[in-house]
Amino acid sequence: MTVGERIAPVDEVPEETTVLFTVREVATDERTEGILVRSNGTITSWLNYCQHLTHIRLDKGSGAGLRDGEIVCTNHGAMFDADTGQCTYGPCEGAYLNALDVTIENDGVYLTDDAYEFVALGPAETDDLDLTSTSNVEF
Ligand code: FES
Repeated sequence: MTVGERIAPVDEVPEETTVLFTVREVATDERTEGILVRSNGTITSWLNYCQHLTHIRLDKGSGAGLRDGEIVCTNHGAMFDADTGQCTYGPCEGAYLNALDVTIENDGVYLTDDAYEFVALGPAETDDLDLTSTSNVEF
């Protein structure tokens, strides 16, 4: 049985930040981004977009911040439980990040989500640069 496409070696997923990667959504053929997060001895994966403003990336290319097992959105301070994806604090409290299915096997993290295909590590290439994505004053 195939386990999907390898995103990264397990030991290259750090404790203190996220690993950014690009996937292609099978249904739309559009590229989007995911992140790997290490938490409580396992690795979870989420689409790289806040649930307050869903065009805002959590990992803007240099890793999203993690604090006490939570992913921090730097725009307005929302915090997401790295295990469940639930927003525990901030303007979207109660909302959930969109999960990507991953499996750990043979010391690697593999994308096993039928809705997405792995493209590459790093950000999705896009022409519509979002100049507001680093702002902390957006509401
Ligand atoms: S965009 Fe993430 S908290 Fe507002």
